[in-house]
This record gives sequence, C-alpha cells and structure tokens, in this order.
Amino acid sequence: ETKTVLVDGDVNNEGSYSQAVDYIREGQVVAFPTETVYGLGADAMNADAVAKIFEAKGRPTDNPLIVHVDSKETALEFVEEVSDKALQCMDAFWPGALTLIMHAKPDTFATNVTAGLSTVGIRVPDHPVALSLLKRLKQPIAAPSANKSGKPSPTLAEHVLFDMNGKIPFILDGGPTKVGIESTVLDTTSSPPVILRPGQVTKEQLEQVIGTVRLSSETQGNTPKSPGMKYAHYAPSAPLYLIEHNSKLIEKAIDHIHGKSKKIAVLSREDFAAADYLFPLSVDKLYDSLRKCDQTDADLILACVLPEGENAALMNRLEKAADHKWFS
Ligand code: TXA
Ligand code: MG
Repeated sequence: ETKTVLVDGDVNNEGSYSQAVDYIREGQVVAFPTETVYGLGADAMNADAVAKIFEAKGRPTDNPLIVHVDSKETALEFVEEVSDKALQCMDAFWPGALTLIMHAKPDTFATNVTAGLSTVGIRVPDHPVALSLLKRLKQPIAAPSANKSGKPSPTLAEHVLFDMNGKIPFILDGGPTKVGIESTVLDTTSSPPVILRPGQVTKEQLEQVIGTVRLSSETQGNTPKSPGMKYAHYAPSAPLYLIEHNSKLIEKAIDHIHGKSKKIAVLSREDFAAADYLFPLSVDKLYDSLRKCDQTDADLILACVLPEGENAALMNRLEKAADHKWFS
C-alpha cells in the first residue's frame, strides 16, 4: 500500500510533486531523497503529522528531528539569536550536508520536532527533488532518515520501501543518494561551535570558514548534547566487528570463523577470496553494504578499519554499527 514514484529529470513530475504536497498538507508522511540519505518528511508545524514519523520509525520521542527548508532566508524566519558563525556556515555550505543547531523561535515548530528542546537543527538539502518539494509546499519539513530506528539509513528508495512498506503512503524515488551518510551536525549555540555528528562537511572545512570547532567526543560528558548519540545505530542483524586493515589478520580471522562452521561477510576495499560474502566499504556504499549483509546467511560481519582523517565520518558510522566491538 506504499506507493513509490520515480522523479527524475526526464519526465514531467508535476503530478508526483503535487501528490507529495497533498499528502504532507493532509498531515501524512512522505519519503524523499536528499543528497545525504532519504528522509521521512512531515509538516514541521503539525504535531500529529510529526508523531507519525516517530511511529513509523519506532524512534524514541526524546530524539529530535532535523528541519529542512528551501533557503537561508526561510531558515532565518524560524530562529533567533543566530550567531555570525552560523550565518557564515549558511553562506558557505548551504545548500548542503550541514545541519546547524540554533535557538528556535518559541512556538514555531511542533514541540515533538525538537523533542521539547529550545534549539532546533535546520538544513537546506542540496538535492533537486527535496528542493522542488520544499518550494512547492512552502513549509518546513521535519525529516529524520527514512530507516527504522537503529537500522542503516536508506540511500536508495528500495531501502525505504523495505523498512516502511505499509507504514507510509508515498515515496519519491530520486535514485541513489550521492553522499551516502547523514549530514554533519554543528551546534552553533555553544562557543566554540561543536560537531555533534561528523559528516561530509569536515572539521577542517568548517574551521576554514569559522575558526576553531570542537568535536563532541572532546567535550561530551554523561549527557550527550545530541540526543541521538546515545542510541544504537546502523546495526545489521548479524554481529558486526571491527578489525584492523591487515590482510594476514583478516585471513586468519576468516579461517578461525570457518573452523566453527560459521559464515562470514567482510566489508573491505580489498578482495578476500575466502570470505563467504564481500561488500564494498566506502561512504556512499556503507549503508547498502550493511543492508546487503542482512540479505545473506552470514553469522558474523567483519569491517576493516580505515585510517582516520578523510575517513572520519565513515569510521564514526562503522564504529556505531559495531557498537565499538573489535574482533579478537
Ligand atoms: O543528512 C541528514 O541529516 C538526514 C537527511 C534526511 O537530512 N537526516 C538525518 O536525521 O540524519 P536524523 O533524525 O536521523 O538525525 C538527526 C540528528 C540526531 O542525531 C539528533 O539527535 C540531532 O540530529 N539533533 C536534531 N535536533 C537537535 C538539537 N536541537 N540539538 C542537538 N541535536 C539535535
Ligand atoms: Mg537517522
């Protein structure tokens, strides 16, 4: 009962967009592509509609959603005490994979969007389908990633359908998402600003524009500032373990697991002929690879650890998917 419609540049998509707009105006939930991952969108001013997002995902209600808008100008209608650094980030990175946490104007968004916080996370997605939808709707869309809570985020419309079939009425299929992991989340209400979730926009890129930026791991105490940080994430069904990227070590691990008559899936950039299943390890393929593991009878998954630096965001997601477990 969930309908998927293809929206690409070659056909007249007016009918598809107006259906999506109608559903959202009626208080329904619609999945749509962004450049990072697919989102599960509802009218950010309609608490009943937003409640349907939490229900469809099985998401804890204390984990706030990201609000998507069509431009900087629209964003500024809904926030106050915006710092100069936040404004500089908007100019430098929007539209794009950067969510800015700012002070929300009171009584604008439905309270369940922000999980009761006085701050809100906002971004302008860099995707023609998301922007077309926002421009037609003329209303901010609250949208978390369109996966079941705890599962890998969807980078294909098929992933959304797999998790949401029968739970939502409509999916706009814009093909594979380019980036493949969720946006960088930057808290601009603290000084210096803090990266609550690493993503495609890196610490170095941010620092070139606004100076010193901290990583939340450096500041985080017992109460995570980003409520989403404390929950299990991106977990495939079989147990996933991190392993050093060392061919000998990995071959030995495969032998050891086969010795116990178990099947193994490996996520790596290298070929391991002995592995029962081998899936690519890259930012744009990570979630698809994790989901593909679920389609196999692998008893165990090994993921090769890549050097930090340019792989920081990828490793952040992989460590969470493994719940920080190392193979030994
Ligand atoms: O790329 C993305 O950001 C995707 C696409 C659909 O835009 N969305 C996404 O949303 O990943 P979600 O809900 O899966 O992740 C939102 C993250 C969570 O970790 C949440 O805790 C954090 O942003 N967040 C949202 N509002 C916040 C706030 N006011 N303060 C701190 N963290 C917040
Ligand atoms: Mg998510």
